[in-house]
Amino acid sequence: MTVYEIISKKRDGLELSDKEISFMVNGFTKCEIPDYQMSAWLMAVYLQGMTKRETLSITQTMLHSGEVVDLSSIAGVKVDKHSTGGVGDKVSIVLAPIAAAAGVPVPMISGRGLGHTGGTLDKLESIPGFRIDFSIEQYRQKIEKIGVCLIGQTNTLAPADKKIYALRDVTATIQCIPLITASIMSKKLAEGIDALVLDVKTGRGAFMQSYEQSVTLAKSLISVGEKFGKPTVAYITNMNEPLGNTVGNWLEIKECIDALHGNGPGDLMEVTHQLCGAMIYLGKKADSIEQGIKTSKEMIASGKAWNKFLEIVKEQNGDVSFIEQPEKYPQSKYSADVLADKTGCIASIDSLEVGLTAITLGAGRQKSDDQIDPKAGIVLHKKTTDAVNAGEKIMTIYSDNQKILEQAKSRLAAAVSYSSTPVKSEKLIYDLNFKIEI
Ligand code: URA
Repeated sequence: MTVYEIISKKRDGLELSDKEISFMVNGFTKCEIPDYQMSAWLMAVYLQGMTKRETLSITQTMLHSGEVVDLSSIAGVKVDKHSTGGVGDKVSIVLAPIAAAAGVPVPMISGRGLGHTGGTLDKLESIPGFRIDFSIEQYRQKIEKIGVCLIGQTNTLAPADKKIYALRDVTATIQCIPLITASIMSKKLAEGIDALVLDVKTGRGAFMQSYEQSVTLAKSLISVGEKFGKPTVAYITNMNEPLGNTVGNWLEIKECIDALHGNGPGDLMEVTHQLCGAMIYLGKKADSIEQGIKTSKEMIASGKAWNKFLEIVKEQNGDVSFIEQPEKYPQSKYSADVLADKTGCIASIDSLEVGLTAITLGAGRQKSDDQIDPKAGIVLHKKTTDAVNAGEKIMTIYSDNQKILEQAKSRLAAAVSYSSTPVKSEKLIYDLNFKIEI
């Protein structure tokens, strides 16, 4: 078997054996296969796709390319949630303390901002002192102690994904359902979960922009999770406009603080409670998802979720004083308001444009080694369906870079469309009504 033969086989649309797949993935991870051959193979996979068996096989190989965490010494059903990535998507930060407060152990290994989407780790790191770089043993101990820990991918967990992902990022091979499935599921299966809840984003600000593609991805993720014996639930949620009212790391943490105090925006809370209800159900702390949603709401109302969040921040070395008094956090040097240029109803706010603009303000990275400005970002005062008058404030933008503000202002103004007649709100959470053949 040669690399050349395996690339040609996939290029010609033939199904690869388990041996051929592991030869490619392990060879590349061990630096025995060069980037140019792996790139050609990834592009062949992108163009020809993979069968269900091949997808399972690549996930299995990537999962076992490193350590698989054993959390069996911790009592309870360990449940994580993963989102395929969006704009203003701070759900994990609100939901992890809620689920843990409800008694579900939450092992959560999250990612950084990717493309136009924000990352849970970057948001958490905007809390002064907050650490996400604990060892696997420390991660295990923290889950045992407080029921939850949020860390970043280590070098020992699914290292094949880390290497392949970096190559996919620069070879235009990200938007490929079998590769996304293997990437997400190898990491999630390696972190020690018993069950998983997935938030597959769809729309302008999602990696999968069409609903049909999102359904196919959700089915692929569920099918792999179930094959590995991990009950998996997936929701498809709308990412046409940003979720909640803030985009940018500290601004989003501030919104999470409000949410945990019971003052979160409706769309953020609807998605949070639905996903968290499923986690509480899979974690066997409720008899149904509906009951789980009730428990999720109770955790906020009783203050238990807020107390758990404080515990998380303390346990992960964060400075709790900033969480208790967010007003003491430094402010951006400059701010500017984006004004409505028409009177009417807001018909759409393009989340892809909002995400890309937030990066230019300093809230994300343009190059992989860029430093993030945790204060930078956008506050949305109006959302889709809201009525506005011309000249009314619809967004405020924050940055330390004055030069970029004018450009960002016009880009954001152009990202909003108006209707002269009332606008019907789009569905936020799509039904989970597809049948999965395992
Ligand atoms: N998120 C991942 O972890 N991997 C992908 O391939 C896409 C999104």
